[in-house]
Amino acid sequence: MVRHISWLALALVATLLLASTFAGASQKTSRKEAALRFIAERGDEPYNSELLQLVAYPSVSALPDNHGDLLAAAGWLQRRLADAGLENARILPTQGLLPVVYAEYLHAPPGAPTALVYGHYDVQPAMDTLPLWASHPFKPEIRGGRFWGRGASDDKGSGVLPPVQALEAILKSGAGGGGGPPQLPINIKVMLEGEEEVGSPHLDPFLAQHADLLACDYVLSADGGQISETQPSLSLGLRGALGLEVELVTAATDVHSGLAGGAVQNPGRALAQLLASMWHAGNHSVAIKGFYDNVRPITQEDRDDILAYNYDEQKELLTPLGASEAVGEAGYTTLERLWHRPTLEVVGMGAGFQGEGIKTIVPRRAFAKLAARLVPDQTPAEIEALIEAHVADHLPPACNASIQLLGFKAHPYTQPKESLPNRVAAKVLTHLMGNPPKFVRSGATIPALAAFQTHLNVSTTVFAFGLPDSNMHAPNENHPLSMYRLARRAWVELLFELGDAAAAAAAAPPADGQPQRNEL
Ligand SMILES: *[C@@H]1O[C@H](CO)[C@@H](O)[C@H](O)[C@H]1NC(C)=O
Ligand SMILES: *[C@@H]1O[C@H](CO)[C@@H](O)[C@H](O)[C@H]1NC(C)=O
Ligand SMILES: *[C@@H]1O[C@H](CO)[C@@H](O)[C@H](O)[C@H]1NC(C)=O
Repeated sequence: MVRHISWLALALVATLLLASTFAGASQKTSRKEAALRFIAERGDEPYNSELLQLVAYPSVSALPDNHGDLLAAAGWLQRRLADAGLENARILPTQGLLPVVYAEYLHAPPGAPTALVYGHYDVQPAMDTLPLWASHPFKPEIRGGRFWGRGASDDKGSGVLPPVQALEAILKSGAGGGGGPPQLPINIKVMLEGEEEVGSPHLDPFLAQHADLLACDYVLSADGGQISETQPSLSLGLRGALGLEVELVTAATDVHSGLAGGAVQNPGRALAQLLASMWHAGNHSVAIKGFYDNVRPITQEDRDDILAYNYDEQKELLTPLGASEAVGEAGYTTLERLWHRPTLEVVGMGAGFQGEGIKTIVPRRAFAKLAARLVPDQTPAEIEALIEAHVADHLPPACNASIQLLGFKAHPYTQPKESLPNRVAAKVLTHLMGNPPKFVRSGATIPALAAFQTHLNVSTTVFAFGLPDSNMHAPNENHPLSMYRLARRAWVELLFELGDAAAAAAAAPPADGQPQRNEL
């Protein structure tokens, strides 16, 4: 409930727009060209050097030792946003230790929408794999047309900097027209978080607390990627998540397996029985009662998108893993399973002696860590309750069970294909990359997108430029200079196209004669 524009105001804007259509259009074109020229005239060097500076901060959110580096990176970005011409640039605390960097520009023409640009300044750990890096992860360098360093792609190079550079280009290229103040085509709020790589554990309360400050018409996520340099994609959804640990305790102490074996419960065996009861062995579907009750059926449109994606299971899944065959819920293709079906996975388990050789005990405890990936309309709370009920119903004798949440929890996210920002992004990507985008989903989880939907009631258009071969999260992370350049230009075009589309929507009469919300 962000932007109620009265029909009267819309009519007024429409009249003004229509009255100045020709002058307005040519002025807009020249403003866009001025911004693109500003970028071209600066050349690559300043843009390259600022990415090298930002990547040099080891902003690893998983490691407490890097806390100071994260705060330093946040400070660098706050200054960069202010330098770019954005206002109210500041660092907002969260309930955790790592703050959000925020800035805004709210002087777009009357009736223009407000977009929230989302990205993250934290990165995955890298020093644990230092010997595998060809150059130091936090002494980034340019080699062979690519930036190399942790965060060069995710999210500093593929996401965070290009929109800032585009906003700066528009604000500093005298793009106000007629000697007026600089002006963006739409209102912009920028929000960069510091905990994305650890699952955004404090994002929900942060968004709830700052719902007014962050109110917007849609989110543009500068975190995400494209299929290749010439094949764009638009993301329609991600799976949610729930992580928990089941522990079985059968005794106060480990006991001699000769003196007590065969006479007391064995927690390893009990856990194996309990876990086995969670899946149907014949068809790999989850056997927990009610698990699929709220799963939406796969639609014809979903199947069409899957067909258009043209998934090569051997090349994209099995060969890189060295796996012999795909295994999953019967009756669904692999991509249907990944994009549209939930899963429950054992991600860790243990009981008894783990060292070399043998220690002859009946252990006293066993545990399994489970991770569910959820799809609409499942919720983490519902699935947690179903798993608890299943454990209680299937508990072998002489065991005490306890279940503990592991702080890995997110709602699934989905959005309709047809939205104004998706349409505009598709147009810009097609123009710049030479092919129309494919509509994709991901089996993975970005908690922020569902959180924006919950707290701000908006959908997210993913507009980011990471590539699948960039080694994100892995040694030798990299990002091509060509994509870094393209992203800057793409953001300029996106912002002007979003402004034009909003003006055109405001000028069109409402279909049903009702006052028209700035509907997306
Ligand atoms: C199992 O739980 C019961 C009831 O709380 C308790 O009395 C017992 O000591 C527990 N057993 C073990 C092995 O922890
Ligand atoms: C799998 O098998 C179980 C038990 O026979 C059955 O209830 C369930 O519907 C099957 N699911 C699929 C996807 O075939
Ligand atoms: C916003 O909330 C309304 C009312 O609950 C809902 O119908 C609509 O789908 C929501 N929009 C988004 C983008 O989540």
